[in-house]
Amino acid sequence: MEKFVVKGGNKLNGTIDISGSKNSAVALIPASILIDGECTIENVPNIKDVVVLQNILHQIGVEMEFTSPGAVRIDSRNINTHIADSETVQEMRASYYLMGALLGRFGKATIPFPGGCNFGSRPIDQHLKGFEAMGAKYEIIEDAMIELTTDGGLVGASIFLDVVSVGATINIMLAAVTAKGTTTIENAAKEPHIVDLANFLNAMGANITGTGTDVIKIKGVKKLTGGHTYSTIPDQIEAGTYMIAAAVTEGDITVAKVIPKHMESLSRKLMEMGMEVIEDEDSIRVIGKPLVKTTNIKTLPYPGFPTDLHPQMTVLMGKAKGTSRIREEIWEERFQYADQLRKMGANIMTEAKMAFIQGPWKLLGAPVKATDLRAGITMVLAGLMAGGTTTISNIEYIDRGYEDLIGKLTGVGANIKRISTNGKS
Ligand code: EPU
Repeated sequence: MEKFVVKGGNKLNGTIDISGSKNSAVALIPASILIDGECTIENVPNIKDVVVLQNILHQIGVEMEFTSPGAVRIDSRNINTHIADSETVQEMRASYYLMGALLGRFGKATIPFPGGCNFGSRPIDQHLKGFEAMGAKYEIIEDAMIELTTDGGLVGASIFLDVVSVGATINIMLAAVTAKGTTTIENAAKEPHIVDLANFLNAMGANITGTGTDVIKIKGVKKLTGGHTYSTIPDQIEAGTYMIAAAVTEGDITVAKVIPKHMESLSRKLMEMGMEVIEDEDSIRVIGKPLVKTTNIKTLPYPGFPTDLHPQMTVLMGKAKGTSRIREEIWEERFQYADQLRKMGANIMTEAKMAFIQGPWKLLGAPVKATDLRAGITMVLAGLMAGGTTTISNIEYIDRGYEDLIGKLTGVGANIKRISTNGKS
């Protein structure tokens, strides 16, 4: 068991290089199952979710190895089963992309119900609706496994999603790439990693158009060919987290190797709250200010304000004098972090989809825990802002999504270390 120990009060200053996108990597890696050959994916973050996926792929006969820092070579030629039934699969939510990828490769797939971050019910009805429209049948076995079958493979279909779902959009794209005929997804999600996945698949021979809009067209191709190298986009949420870190510590951080367009909703919000935000071609500099204005946020699918930056923003809102509000529209139980923040003295009230943040907060370090990935990083931000020492447990959640967190934060002047519970660094 390990913990983070944060001593607050330092203003963070310097440049942080942003890693490749977690949510792209966890889609591109299973997508490589569709390729009849090998491919190399660059700019893959070294995080726990990627390691978990590597273990799952090994178990089904796919070779995946890091060839240099950030680059993985994947060879699916020897994949030997459509059944991914190990406990490892349940460790992460994004393992549900194995459904689309295995269906596309074998016309059948069996996987356990996916696990992942814990913030309320996370249905997959839209994924299954898409697969069914394309001719798949599914059976839930003993409330634990999903078995998908087809009669000779998938056939393109027209699918209208009832809710804008990143996961369903990606899964249907994966299944449709080698299906017979054309698939159309309407009311599709528009997140940058959906465009990234299409670019990756198209580089391997797929025919996908319309990503980044809400209508995506996938013309099925016979097969995807290997031998190509592709680089993932930067991680929008990691970048956003460090931008907020600059603001909460009244520091001056440049996040480098980013796509500023992807950060627009956050950049605008930080400016509204009084921060200085300077965009360059592939970097953004955020200069924190002592005077923070209250604001309101409603989380929405891209290009709206991302739910995955909502918990972090509460810490900045806590610096403003007056009431700020967050309306969470994506995940019903995303507010579990509020109890932890209260242990540090935060005045935050939640009711149904709303959080009311009454500032200014005077946070004092305390023992707290990560209740999910983004809740966990929020405790780190609160610890950086608080007086005294904050100890954060359950940090395996944070390890799922932030590459070299300690190195990156200490590099800009934070006092944070990882200790094992026997107290050693
Ligand atoms: N939904 C349904 N039915 C479905 C699928 C989704 O009702 O079949 C609902 C969900 O309950 C939710 C909404 O639709 O209310 C959106 O869910 P979505 O499917 O878009 O989420 P996801 O694909 O499971 C991805 C990210 C999450 C991020 C959400 C929203 C990955 C691996 N995960 O999840 O990222 O919060 O989109 O942007 O891409 C994180 O990185 O910390 C994280 C949780």
